[in-house]
Amino acid sequence: MKRNLFFILLATCLFVSCKKEASLQFIETPTPARSAGQTDVLQLTADPIPTVRVAFIGLGMRGPGAVDRMTHIDGVEIVALCDMVEENVKKVNRKLEEKGLPKALEFYGDENAWRKVTALPNVDLVYIATDWKHHAPIAIQAMKDGKHTAIEVPSALTMEDIWALINTSEQTRKHCIGLENCCYDFFELTTLNMVQHGLLGEIIHGEGAYIHGLQPYWDKYWENWRMDYNETHRGDLYPTHGLGPVCQAMNIHRGDKLNYLVSMDTKPIGNPAYIKEKTGRDVPNFRNGDHTCTLIYTENGKSILVEHNVTSPRPYNRMYQLTGTKGFANKYPVEGYALDQGEIDPEIASNHENLTAHRFVPQEVRAALMEKYKHPIVAEIEEKAKTVGGHGGMDFVMDYRLIYCLQNGLPLDMDVYDLAEWCCVIPLSEISLDNNSMPVQIPDFTRGAWNRLDKLTFAK
Ligand SMILES: NC(=O)c1ccc[n+]([C@@H]2O[C@H](COP(=O)([O-])OP(=O)(O)OC[C@H]3O[C@@H](n4cnc5c(N)ncnc54)[C@H](O)[C@@H]3O)[C@@H](O)[C@H]2O)c1
Repeated sequence: MKRNLFFILLATCLFVSCKKEASLQFIETPTPARSAGQTDVLQLTADPIPTVRVAFIGLGMRGPGAVDRMTHIDGVEIVALCDMVEENVKKVNRKLEEKGLPKALEFYGDENAWRKVTALPNVDLVYIATDWKHHAPIAIQAMKDGKHTAIEVPSALTMEDIWALINTSEQTRKHCIGLENCCYDFFELTTLNMVQHGLLGEIIHGEGAYIHGLQPYWDKYWENWRMDYNETHRGDLYPTHGLGPVCQAMNIHRGDKLNYLVSMDTKPIGNPAYIKEKTGRDVPNFRNGDHTCTLIYTENGKSILVEHNVTSPRPYNRMYQLTGTKGFANKYPVEGYALDQGEIDPEIASNHENLTAHRFVPQEVRAALMEKYKHPIVAEIEEKAKTVGGHGGMDFVMDYRLIYCLQNGLPLDMDVYDLAEWCCVIPLSEISLDNNSMPVQIPDFTRGAWNRLDKLTFAK
């Protein structure tokens, strides 16, 4: 009933709203009012939890790695494991036993078994790595059951779910974090530190992407959930790896905010051809285009380009480009920095004449810059992260920071508004695409508090 009401509201609001000037036209989606007494969760803190008891839901390709990483963090107990597939649960529990750790409680075989997990009294954090559609319902119930929640990306698929996660976190005062591991990549963190020290000047444009042919994985997803979602939905369905680190560098909802987006996609060729080849099935109405581009404009006059392509024969690429008034950073296909001459530390550049922003700085200058601006979090945990691993170590840094902040009662590095901003591109790009690339307004998910904090900080 509530769901229907939301869609009726959405439909009524899907009109071209004429602002003061006739040229300002957006498609708007509704922003629900806050309930009386409900306040935002910017810089949310909770009581310190010296030993964090974690329950994992979703143990397919991604989940078991997260369980393993958590076994390398002091003050973590793994108390429950849940998956649809019994063997997925048993396999992870055997690994715990092999490490000499206590066996976790097991839940499996029923699509609603997770409800028993979120209801457990001895759990502090519910860590969710299921298929996308289960993310938000599980997290919402977990917060209602008094648990902090960490959700794999993308954490929510619809505006209704995004607002429900925000409202539940605000009402329950429980953390709800989207597990955007790319924010913890060593290059992204180091570059963020350079940005926060002003090395690149003011960041005016950013680019991020998820360009990754998923052909080796399509048939490994549980019940084909990922291809099914691509078959039935148009839009950038995986925007957070590209968008998250760029938004952090631009201090989104910490002095700037995303205002609107426009999207354009190509026709679908690669994925329907894959389905035809593997199953013989024709899919004339496959929804998602091969390549989707989304442009976002911010309140402070900055732009972001996000791209999505999970089918074309291209090298893996998250783009991660930042254009600043004094310099430029680029991660793919080659990591590099280009800086205005005045911005290069004379000590670092002394042996290099003719440095110019028209070229990337030489390899040894880049290495020296990366050492000088190594992010304090990287400096603290780099070696262990590289040993434990998970996408080169960034997954471990993410989990380590999550547990550290919970143990010390600190605000988490990423909040539910980050989750909302990075995930809303999924439903809003679909609306833009279905309306000839019309601009779609991005709500202020903080409902008025986007300018209260002046920059992104990592609590110590
Ligand atoms: N951050 C990253 O780098 C990264 C990498 C890979 C995957 N992911 C994300 O991780 C999530 C999982 O992806 P995956 O590749 O492991 O998919 P997967 O299909 O291999 O695993 C999903 C698991 O969820 C389980 N599941 C589904 N419904 C459930 C329910 N109701 N209760 C309990 N378990 C349920 C399935 O049994 C399956 O084992 C996705 O959100 C994906 O986008 C993130």
